[in-house]
Amino acid sequence: MRITLNQVQKLGLNYGLEDNMQELQQAAKIGFASEFSFYLKAHNFHWNVEGSDFLEYHDLFGKIYEEVYGAIDDFAEKIRALGAYVPASFSSFSMLSQIPDENHLLPKDQMVMELLQDNEKLINVLKLVYELAEKYREVGFSNFLAERIDAHRKHGWMLRASLKG
Ligand SMILES: [Fe+2]
Repeated sequence: MRITLNQVQKLGLNYGLEDNMQELQQAAKIGFASEFSFYLKAHNFHWNVEGSDFLEYHDLFGKIYEEVYGAIDDFAEKIRALGAYVPASFSSFSMLSQIPDENHLLPKDQMVMELLQDNEKLINVLKLVYELAEKYREVGFSNFLAERIDAHRKHGWMLRASLKG
């Protein structure tokens, strides 16, 4: 016999998930898609940057994409733990992500500037998801988001510092 979601909820076996968590689930998906897009852009810049101080910028973008990539799996599994499915295709990312794609080859300073702007945008998205996680008292998830915001603050510092002449 197949157990329905309704029966699970009646039995109190829904692991404490509140009924009306769709807004948090949806926001989490938007945060995840944005985080993944940010990761991809940092990796794009790591691969495609050029110039006399190539290595410096290649390494800067490398540090950022590696840190962000390291959080992707955890982020996805937190979404599953919230009872939602993980968006994991280019079409779903392009619908959900708040970080725009970059299809042009930019000069290195513009790469830094753009990733810095994206980083600020991503921090704001993560803060909104954080507020909803707090609203539903999903403290494990809000702790995770607080750490992501902190990590992106550090990325912002590194990007900003490297723009100073
Ligand atoms: Fe590499």
